Amino acid sequence: MKGIILHGGSGTRLRPLTYTDVKQLLPLAGKPVSEYALNALIELGIKDINIVLGDIGAEEVKSYYGKGDKWGINISYTFQGKPAGIAQAVGLTREFVKDDDFIVVLGDNYFHSGFFQLLKDFRKEEMDAYVALTKVPDPEKYGIAEIQDGRIVRMVEKPKEPKSNLAVTGVYFLRKSIFPIIDSLKPSWRGELEITDAFQKMIEAGMKVGYSIITGWWKDTGTPGEFLRCNMMALERIPVKETKLNDQSVYWRAQIEDEVSIDRDSKIVGPCFIGSGSVIENSYIGPYTSIGKNCRIKDSHIENSVIMDTVSTDLNFSSIIRESLVGPSSEIRSLRNNEKFLRIIIGRDSKIEV
Ligand code: G1P
Repeated sequence: MKGIILHGGSGTRLRPLTYTDVKQLLPLAGKPVSEYALNALIELGIKDINIVLGDIGAEEVKSYYGKGDKWGINISYTFQGKPAGIAQAVGLTREFVKDDDFIVVLGDNYFHSGFFQLLKDFRKEEMDAYVALTKVPDPEKYGIAEIQDGRIVRMVEKPKEPKSNLAVTGVYFLRKSIFPIIDSLKPSWRGELEITDAFQKMIEAGMKVGYSIITGWWKDTGTPGEFLRCNMMALERIPVKETKLNDQSVYWRAQIEDEVSIDRDSKIVGPCFIGSGSVIENSYIGPYTSIGKNCRIKDSHIENSVIMDTVSTDLNFSSIIRESLVGPSSEIRSLRNNEKFLRIIIGRDSKIEV
């Protein structure tokens, strides 16, 4: 069995972060989103993984994952160029797949574990394709499956009038029988070769497309709100243990990397993650907060946020940072004491709620 991670897609809904950074490399609890997908594949014992690169940040992705030595696996790359749909990306991997069965995961989806049972069902029932479905409140934003008598009868991409609330999540168990189907696809209204159209054609051709309904371990990271929810899910998986901070102890879910300095006036509330080299002075961090590497957090109160690498904040406690995504190397500073006065120098499409 082989694994494929799709790493194209520009992440327009996460701008301005994605003007400068690769969406799938944005960190959740200190690790790129796509590394959770990689780990889920590795847990299944998969050793050969191909990453499909888009036209944004291909070099950064290659320099992060390399040949896979860090994980003891082989990583190879396929270059998609300008992304034109999930099915188009999958179609490019047939040289890599050859005669094996394979799993495709979307690099901007957050996963933890859960793949074992899906793989068992895919194999037991000798499916051509096997998908994981989950109930969503906003089905018009996803590929949707309609079920009758325990079988998928129809799949539609982002239906205007959804007939079901079962979204197709970003993990697909496939065989090479999908490739001729992909070859016969036409671009959708959004100009993409849709994976849901491929499944629909398979169903029409009488091929076996199976499914499981899953809960709790999958989420798309598409919007800032969803990204923060994924950050919460990732932080909740940090083991409960005692963590020493200088001479104080933090119990519960806190992962504090090496060479972090936290002074006695600071309070850290789990679940949270603090990356190596960060300095926390007279601040309140958490819950549900990830602080990247080499940050400097001073006189600040931060909750339910993702603060990326080398950020500095110095806020005189004038405002609380909450539900925020702060891009790498940003600086947030308050110029006056005890006033909600912020001078912000930041790119377009930014959203500031003070
Ligand atoms: C894609 C798929 C859709 C699926 C979703 C899951 O949508 O086309 O079928 O439900 O991922 O995240 P997109 O992210 O391209 O809007």
